[in-house]
Amino acid sequence: MKTLFEECAINGMKLRNRMVRSATWEGMCDPDGRPTDKLKDFYHQLATGGVGLIITGYTFVSPEGKQLPGKMGIHTDEFAEEYKKMTSSIHEAGGAIAIQLVHAGGQTDSGNAGRQPLAPSAIKVDQFPEMPAELTLDEIHNIVDAFGKGAQRAKEWGFDAVQLHGAHGYLINQFLSPLTNLRTDDYGGNIENRSRFAIDVYKKVREAVGDDYPVLIKLNASDNLEGGLSVEDATYCAQQLSYLGIDAIEVSAGTPASGDESPARAKINKPEKEAYHLSLALQIKNAVSCPVMVVGGMRSYDVAENAVAEEGLDYISMARPLIREPDLPNRWQSGDRSPATCISCNGCFMPGIKEGGIYCVAEKKKSD
Ligand SMILES: Cc1cc2nc3c(=O)[nH]c(=O)nc-3n(C[C@H](O)[C@H](O)[C@H](O)COP(=O)(O)O)c2cc1C
Repeated sequence: MKTLFEECAINGMKLRNRMVRSATWEGMCDPDGRPTDKLKDFYHQLATGGVGLIITGYTFVSPEGKQLPGKMGIHTDEFAEEYKKMTSSIHEAGGAIAIQLVHAGGQTDSGNAGRQPLAPSAIKVDQFPEMPAELTLDEIHNIVDAFGKGAQRAKEWGFDAVQLHGAHGYLINQFLSPLTNLRTDDYGGNIENRSRFAIDVYKKVREAVGDDYPVLIKLNASDNLEGGLSVEDATYCAQQLSYLGIDAIEVSAGTPASGDESPARAKINKPEKEAYHLSLALQIKNAVSCPVMVVGGMRSYDVAENAVAEEGLDYISMARPLIREPDLPNRWQSGDRSPATCISCNGCFMPGIKEGGIYCVAEKKKSD
């Protein structure tokens, strides 16, 4: 039987426990995507707080794939020094760090992307103001290459793993979803074709980093949208990736258009509302041979422990609770098992845009 606080490993990456900090954009980079010391210190604090694996905020692999301000970039060799300092600081604190690689596709605007956004099809997505241009085959191949180059840099600069962002309505998810992919070529139509971009990206990244390096994906198991990606289609894609050798799948769901069922749900104030992607994660787990992580609304020790010990999932991931309490893993491990103090208000997003970095606004109000 698995337990939360036991050492484990993913394709050679040693982890001190089964708790993962799920990717969380921090808004702490320069406008060109260069990481700052503030971001390095933020991750260091997470590592000293005891979490097993830190997954960085989403990091664009090519400039037009950038979404929010202050987002990390790995599209250039120029940031080597900053990233090396970041990874060494995590390793000194006994932690492990994976970088999340993303292309935002149509979920951005020309202000951030520097051009008209690009997407599988020219379909405007809710919450984003501009009509994207349909990707040409050459552009698709260039983006696949950019994922490969980003992964190669990540490995050279000391990251312990890479995670592909295949969730929350970004480009990989846009290809998977029938709502945003109306292509009639090899990248559109049935789920075999809609999975092709995810698989091309995975293969290119694997080619860049070799077999002995962990490659993970965060995958939407459902878009929680009428006509969007279904769990059956997501399971097909997960199975293909597992068969090809992906090292772990982190299961999420929803897009910014999914209302109450968006990825970061509000008001998780009782245990029954927690772990809201558990059943989707179990469906994926039953269909694949690689480890599976579940993210979304984990707040109580018992719910987290149950997901691994009883339900058989391999890892639990948390984002918002660790913004408020970066030392939550150490707290739970030392015996204080009271629930995370995060109130799931989503107030942490705004200071990332307005004040140059996320923090827990509820905690700040309390201490003011
Ligand atoms: C401020 C903020 C930034 C986020 N940025 C990312 C991101 O860069 N990549 C990603 O995959 N998910 C991102 N998420 C979603 C989280 O990783 C996670 O899936 C979601 O918050 C649910 O988990 P939680 O209940 O533990 O917060 C973000 C969430 C928040 C609150």
